[in-house]
Order: sequence, then structure tokens, then C-alpha cells
Amino acid sequence: MSLRLRGTWVPAIVVLAVQAMALLGVLALGTGTAAAHASVVATDPIDDSVSASPPARVSVTFTESVTISAGGLVVRDGRGDRVDDDAANAKGTVVSTGLRPDLPNGTYVVTYRVLSADGHPVSGSFLFGVGSGELDRSLADTGSDRLWDIVGDGARALLLLAALTAAGVAFFLRFVHDGAEDRWRLIPFVRIGTMVAFLAAIGAVIAQSALLTGRGAGASTDTDVLRQVLRGDLGLSLAVLFVGLAVVHLSTDLGSPVVGRVLALYGGLAVTISFALWGHATAFTPAWLLMSTDAVHATAAAVWLGGLVGLWMVLAGRGPEDVTGSARIVGRFSALALWTVLALVVAGVALTIAGSDASWSALVSTTWGRLILTKAAITSLVVVIAALNRRVLVPSFVGATHDAPADAARHHRRLLTTVRVEAAAIVVILVLTGVVTNVTPARDVPPASSGVTTTRPIDAGSVRLETRPARVGANTVSVTYTDPQGAPLDVGPSLTIEFSLPAEGLAPITRQTTALSPGRFEYEGREFSVPGTWTVTVAARTGVFTESRTSFEVRVVP
Ligand code: HEM
Repeated sequence: MSLRLRGTWVPAIVVLAVQAMALLGVLALGTGTAAAHASVVATDPIDDSVSASPPARVSVTFTESVTISAGGLVVRDGRGDRVDDDAANAKGTVVSTGLRPDLPNGTYVVTYRVLSADGHPVSGSFLFGVGSGELDRSLADTGSDRLWDIVGDGARALLLLAALTAAGVAFFLRFVHDGAEDRWRLIPFVRIGTMVAFLAAIGAVIAQSALLTGRGAGASTDTDVLRQVLRGDLGLSLAVLFVGLAVVHLSTDLGSPVVGRVLALYGGLAVTISFALWGHATAFTPAWLLMSTDAVHATAAAVWLGGLVGLWMVLAGRGPEDVTGSARIVGRFSALALWTVLALVVAGVALTIAGSDASWSALVSTTWGRLILTKAAITSLVVVIAALNRRVLVPSFVGATHDAPADAARHHRRLLTTVRVEAAAIVVILVLTGVVTNVTPARDVPPASSGVTTTRPIDAGSVRLETRPARVGANTVSVTYTDPQGAPLDVGPSLTIEFSLPAEGLAPITRQTTALSPGRFEYEGREFSVPGTWTVTVAARTGVFTESRTSFEVRVVP
């Protein structure tokens, strides 16, 4: 098996073996952790609860192991003063901190910021109260990380675009282009691309530091924060990326074709492999296989994108006059593109299966899944255009040079247009990918819950309990009493609800509902603080000495 590129026969087996060894070696360094986006399963004290005596510690339990930076779990009183002991720690899935002794009555705000094992920061906050009064909800932390999320997505998209363009064009120049003078039109794509990628990577680190600490861009100047951000897979990924970018940049400076090819090939591989060393692929199982698949996917993306940019410049620069030279390059790229696109699609489908646990419903119901499906739809369109190119336009373009030079200008124009359209579509796909890599993969999104509705018979008819969305956090509980004919049943002006979770030993929390109309009551609150099968008991005072009590089981998901 050999690979014919630019008139020379490259012993493909040797090249592929070296590539595979390099790939597996670097990936082995990055497979130390295998976990996903962490989400909260429990808090102590319970989110939004009020207790008579102050707790000694506060803790938050996550679905996965997490790490925490100094100040990553902070508790403040109603005046905004810290009341924790500034010694938060993470043990496995639990982060906790001690509190000042004898906290006075009042409302307290807990804010957490931790790093998931897949490298993504997770943050949130909740309230608890001491004493007997109501919680002061105006203290709820409404601070949003939205801006830094957008900066992070943008930086990742720009990084992908610039780095893959640089690596892909460098490969095109050394393996597909014929070395003519117009290579100078392409070299700036490599040089500017490597520099933009470098800056975008720094932007991604700044966003990551801001998200991890909540302290904005300034956090990235704190060496402790930087150490935390760069300690794990992200540090390794950036190190490999920067070496790769430098080598790719260098490949355009050297005159020797052999050294230039080696640098373009292995520098480009370092760039594409670096993307597999951090992020979701490290959390998919088996990690080494999915990280390798991710590296193949990113490598194919670079070759395709670089090839299209290269063809665009060659066709636009040489015009219809030098059709013979252009046609040779077009033919060479066309052969390469077939295998590249095949590898890209197969690897993309494998990553999609891993990221969704092969669940179609998870794909269509999550942001991650919908973005991937959009990517796949755009890719299908581009593949159709590319296939038409390969079967119709490329042969007629190449043929036109010999048989009908008059047609060359027309074929040239058409080919240039389709190459531009394909390149533009890939840019859109890469922007979507920048977002996808920062969104929780479909398999890690808790199952959707549209609520739980249960009806129980009572002496005078029936009572229906509706809990929406029946997830941990804020819920609306509606209670409706009806007589045997289905008409509203008046059970008095007041109704209380008791929430308890026997399996976790959580004693009943009693709440008063709001009466909407005779027989209809509603309550909104955050009593469902952990997932599990809760017992919800509604108690209507039907007379001075009589009470109607009905119990329901409500399954609450994370
Ligand atoms: C059938 C079409 C495609 C499918 C099903 C697909 C699927 C995926 C999946 C599932 C991921 C992993 C996302 C994550 O880390 O959460 C991914 C990443 C990626 N995709 Fe695609 N993709 C497709 C087409 C493309 C195309 C056409 C390009 C560009 C030419 C592309 C470039 C990338 C890149 C650069 C990454 C990021 C690698 C990383 O940062 O680890 N994909 N893709």
C-alpha cells in the first residue's frame, strides 16, 4: 500500500505506523481520568431549607469526582460577609467547608465553583436559613457566567478554525501543491493561522480561569489559578498544540522538501492530536479508542479544510489560463479528499454514538445532540457537492485542458464556486463544533422529566397530585380534589403538603399551599433537594377535628 502525493511514492505503511505510535503514545499520557461533566446530586444543608440551629459545615455532592480551587466553595451572610473558614476541600465527589461557630439567625448564600474531570468548570449557588423566619430570596446569587461561556465558545471555535487551517494548508503545500510561485499566496494562511491559534488558546485559558473562579479576566494573572487550570489534561493539550503550531509554522520556512514534509506532517498531527487530549473524548469509554477516533476526526477535518483553502487560492490565483497546472493539483486533492471525508464521517459517527450512548432520543432532545445533528446535516450537503465535483466537475475540468480548452474557463468558474461553498460550510461546522465541545454531551444530560401526575381515591371522590418538572430544584405542585362526577370538591380553605424522603432519612418538611379555587391548591418550592422516590402527603382540614390525608410517591430525577 502506498500513497501517491505530488509525484512521489510515500511508503504509507511506515508513515501510518509512526503516526499510530505517536498518536497512542501521546493519548496514553492523557487517559489518566475518565469522567464527564459533573452535576450536583445533593447539598447539605438542603437547598432552600431553614433549620433552627446553625450547621457546622456545608457540603455539595456531585455525580463525578471534582477538583476545587481555593475559594471554590464560599458561604456569605445577608450582608455579603464570608462566614466559611476559607479551607474548602474536595474528597472524591464531595466538596465541603467549615463554618464560623454560632452563626446568627438569617439567610446564607453558598456558591460553588469546581472543575469536572473532563476539564469543564461547573458552578452554582443555593440558599439556606438559620432560625425560624422565611428565607430572604433577594440574596439568591444571580451572577451569570454567560459572558465567559460565550468567550470560551468563541475562543474554542477560533482556535479550531485557525489551527486546523494552518495545519491543513501546511499539509496541502507540502503534499498536494506543485511548489510553483503561487505557494506564497498560501503561506500566510499557515503563518497567520498559527499565530491566531496561539492567541485563541490564550483566550480559552482566560475564559477557563474566569469560569473557574468567577473573578473575571483578572483571575488568569493569578499563578495559583493558572496552575489549577493548566494542571490537568488542558495543560498537556496546550503544550502539544503549541509545539505542533511552532513546527507547522517552521515547515513553511525551510527550503528542503523532505524536511518540510516531515515538519508539515508531524507538526500538523501534533496540532490535531492536541484537540483529542482535552475535553469530552477523554471522558468517553474506552477513552484511548475514542481519543484516537477524535484525533482521526480532527486530522481529517484539517486535511479537508486545508485542501479546500488551498484549491481556492490556486484556482483563484492561476485563473483559467493555467488550467493544466491547476488540474493536476485538483486531481491529486480529489483522490485524497475521498478517503479524508470517509474517515471524517466514520469517526464523527463513532464519537456521536459514544457521546449519546447510542440513544436517538438523547440526541434529539439535548443541545449537544441537536448541534451534532446540524453538523451532520451540513456535512451531508457538503459531501453531496463534493461527490458531484468529483464525478462531474473535476473530470470535465481535467479533460478540458486537453480536449476543449475553450470550456476551461466555464469549468474553472464552476469549480471555484463549489470550492468556496464547501469551505464556507466547513467554517460554519467548525464554529458549531466550538460550541459543541463546551456543551454537556447528550449521555450526561439527566433524563428529561415533564412531571409526574398521580390520582388517588378518597372517601368523597379522588385527589390528583401533579409535580412539575419532578426534578431536583424548583418545582410546582398542584393538588385537585374532585367528586365522583369529576366536579371540583370543596375540602376547605387550606391545605398543607409534607415532603419526605424515607430512603435518605429526610424527615417531613411541611408547607402551606395557596388556594386557587374550591378544591384546587398550588405550591411552588425547592423541597426536592436530592433525586429519589419522595413521599408527598397532602392534608386537607375538612372539619374542626377532621383531616383528610393522602400520600403519593413522586420519583424525582437529577
Ligand atoms: C457526519 C458528520 C459529523 C459528525 C457526526 C461529527 C461528530 C462530532 C462529534 C460527536 C464530535 C465530538 C464533540 C465533543 O467533543 O463533544 C466532533 C468533534 C469535532 N468535529 Fe465533527 N462531526 C461531523 C463532521 C465534521 C466536519 C465536516 C468537520 C470539519 C471539517 C468536523 C470537525 C470536528 C472537530 C474539529 C471536532 C473537535 C475535536 C476536538 O476538539 O476534540 N466534524 N464531531
